[in-house]
Amino acid sequence: MKKTKRIIFIFLPLLLIGAITTYFYFSSHKLENKEVKNTMKEENPSKTLEVARETTDYQEKYKNDYQEIHYQEEKDFIKKINTLLDLNYKADEINKIYAYIKEENILKLLNLEKVNLDPYYQIKNFEVDKIPEYENYQEKYKTTLEEAVLKVNIGLDHDFYTQIQDIENKDEYTVLVNKYHSLGDYAPTDLKSLSYDAKYQLRKKAADAFEELVSAAKLDQVFIRPYSAYRSYTYQTGLYDRYVKRDGKSEADTYSARPGHSEHQTGLAVDVWTEGKQEITVKDAEWLKQNSYKYGFIIRYTRENQNITGYIAEPWHLRYLGIEIATDVVEKNLTYDEYYDLYIK
Ligand code: DAL
Ligand code: ZN
Repeated sequence: MKKTKRIIFIFLPLLLIGAITTYFYFSSHKLENKEVKNTMKEENPSKTLEVARETTDYQEKYKNDYQEIHYQEEKDFIKKINTLLDLNYKADEINKIYAYIKEENILKLLNLEKVNLDPYYQIKNFEVDKIPEYENYQEKYKTTLEEAVLKVNIGLDHDFYTQIQDIENKDEYTVLVNKYHSLGDYAPTDLKSLSYDAKYQLRKKAADAFEELVSAAKLDQVFIRPYSAYRSYTYQTGLYDRYVKRDGKSEADTYSARPGHSEHQTGLAVDVWTEGKQEITVKDAEWLKQNSYKYGFIIRYTRENQNITGYIAEPWHLRYLGIEIATDVVEKNLTYDEYYDLYIK
């Protein structure tokens, strides 16, 4: 009995002390490990986190997000990602946004409610603020999203000659003129007469290219001549009005541009006839179709693309774009309206 008591009085406290010491030893060790880990992370802050800390925009609640977001060398980057984080975009979405979306779209995103961008990362020509229109178009016409984006961007979800925009790059050789884009009363400044007859003029590069086209055609026994080239705003007004009087507005609209909307006003378009005829023969039109791009011209209005251009086929209407772009448009088999949205804009 006495022995048992001694054991309890001596060994039990010892055991207790042992247990307590062990507990504290291990828990302090654990703490140490944790601290080691924390300092390790702190020693490796991402560039974004580092930069954020140097600014007054730093927000402690976004510390982990800063750590994950790939830094972009641009003005107010931290401010912008703060806004995106406020809108509830996650760090990995923000990384995708910066990897796939062009700058002007990112700026627009900052002023919109959060949108689901997943279907759009691979569509290079989409505009953030048109997402509702794309989705409506896709629903209404049962198209792919890519097609909806292209059609809406061109303007085709609205009637022709509505939502008209003033063209910004009127003097560029790549300028897009159609029923949604107006030149106003623009006139080019580098017009040059064609050798066939001085009254036909094109802009310098287009004029030189046209002479080459005519010479090349001759070598293939194809004899063509210009019959309409540069047309001023005023001239187009008279022409269109005459057609409207003759055929009525809706008929005239299928083959004649309203003033400000004609490619002829750019000095980059020319209509051709077969020599000695008041038309282009089928054979000559075929030659133009096969060869014009080699000299920098495309057939702008074809039967296949009349739903996009709003004009019936005009196998005689050549539009100068330069050899490189004309070749690419033909190879890609696109209307220039589509090509412009995908590759030029
Ligand atoms: N005939 C073309 C479409 C024009 O008037 O420009
Ligand atoms: Zn024409």
